[in-house]
Amino acid sequence: MAMLLPRATDPVPTERLLLTPIGLGDVDDLWRLYSDPLVARWTGPWSYDGVEAWARDMASRWLTDGVGKWLARDRSDGALVGRGGLSRMDLAGEAVLEVGWVVRDALAGRGFGTEIGRAALDWASTFFPALPVIAFTEVHNRASRAVMHHLDLRFEGIIHREGLVEGRDGLHPDAAFALYRRVP
Ligand SMILES: CC(C)(COP(=O)(O)OP(=O)(O)OC[C@H]1O[C@@H](n2cnc3c(N)ncnc32)[C@H](O)[C@@H]1OP(=O)(O)O)[C@@H](O)C(=O)NCCC(=O)NCCS
Repeated sequence: MAMLLPRATDPVPTERLLLTPIGLGDVDDLWRLYSDPLVARWTGPWSYDGVEAWARDMASRWLTDGVGKWLARDRSDGALVGRGGLSRMDLAGEAVLEVGWVVRDALAGRGFGTEIGRAALDWASTFFPALPVIAFTEVHNRASRAVMHHLDLRFEGIIHREGLVEGRDGLHPDAAFALYRRVP
């Protein structure tokens, strides 16, 4: 009997979640997710049009890069939990996969961020074993850094890019981010 090999765009089941490649059909769910105050604070600000453009970009990344972010839903009832997964990017001239996670405010602190991240690391080992996996977040995003520690990513240093600065309002062009990397 022929074995069916897994494809990169197949839905990924985890213990509690079903992860599916983000496409334009997910815009309304993403808008709900990005409207949660904590999520908006760390990833926004978002407009509906901005969310739609982001989902379009993600769908095209899945087609052109063969990798992208997933929407995360509860396996048992389909309820929206968050989003996460991988994006191909250039880190100072090095091709890498960036892993990230976002969980609805009401569901934070139950291990979902770590569950999404672990699934992404496993997926990367299967489909892009030669690419390094990195993660970064503003230095004061303690929840996201805790997820990076749970996943045994190694702290590599500080990088600067547009983002939040502790104690100041708005986005800043030169915010400090903690950079982590999967140990080979
Ligand atoms: C970051 C985020 C995805 C984490 O999701 P989650 O489902 O809560 O993650 P987990 O439950 O797997 O782990 C969170 C850890 O952070 C810890 N944590 C949460 N808030 C914290 C804080 N203010 N200070 C220190 N640790 C914190 C939790 O205690 C937990 O660690 P523990 O399991 O050792 O107790 C979620 O908080 C989120 O979506 N935040 C807004 C969006 C965001 O910042 N995304 C990341 C962008 S880089």
